[in-house]
Amino acid sequence: MRIDIITVSPELIKSPFEYSIIKRAINKGFVEVHFHNLRDYALNKYGQIDDMQYGGGAGMVLMIEPIDKCMSKLLAERTYDEVIYMTPDAPTLNQQTANTLSLKENILILTGHYKGVDQRVRDKFITKEISIGDYVLSGGEIAAAVLCDAIIRLIPGVLGDETSALTDSFQDNLLAPPIYTRPSEYDGLKVPDVLLSGNFKKIDAWRHDQAYNKTQILKPDLLDE
Ligand code: ADE
Repeated sequence: MRIDIITVSPELIKSPFEYSIIKRAINKGFVEVHFHNLRDYALNKYGQIDDMQYGGGAGMVLMIEPIDKCMSKLLAERTYDEVIYMTPDAPTLNQQTANTLSLKENILILTGHYKGVDQRVRDKFITKEISIGDYVLSGGEIAAAVLCDAIIRLIPGVLGDETSALTDSFQDNLLAPPIYTRPSEYDGLKVPDVLLSGNFKKIDAWRHDQAYNKTQILKPDLLDE
């Protein structure tokens, strides 16, 4: 997979790609991530990429021309399966979307900043808009990093233990059951006996019950899906 990210702050978004599973996925060649600084496509020598909004109102708007220049260059080099815009006024990211995107070849992500982008960018280039939740961040960079993390760990082969991603919360519309490790008792707090029993049929049944009950209490809407 190849992911291209267009941003006004490449430095802000780079570090999540330099650690742990994501770093390993990049080093092993499962994914290539390329950052493109929108300022490199600025209108003038002052580095202009934004302007005030028509009709009045607070906040600067990213202009279409620099984004068009950057996107057109990338789109001429390869075909993208999705051109994604990170924005709070969009459907919320969920595991299903991450699963689908993890199977794509090329993804282009545009991150907004300031007030957002000129609507014509969205109309002309964007095939999918994604929010990471009902709150507003200073920019889409952190949201894009969240999206990439959710996608990259799902690319077949990235996680050493193949079953690991499949047992994550949400994979079967259930939250993950409680997990424990050594010691089996700490300060009077005991690990449930069933987990020490060695009876894997019973353990599976217990985990499923726990996951179901937890989902019913914390996120009952998942059970309707
Ligand atoms: N940009 C600003 N807030 C955001 C959010 N909640 N999700 C995605 N992109 C954003």
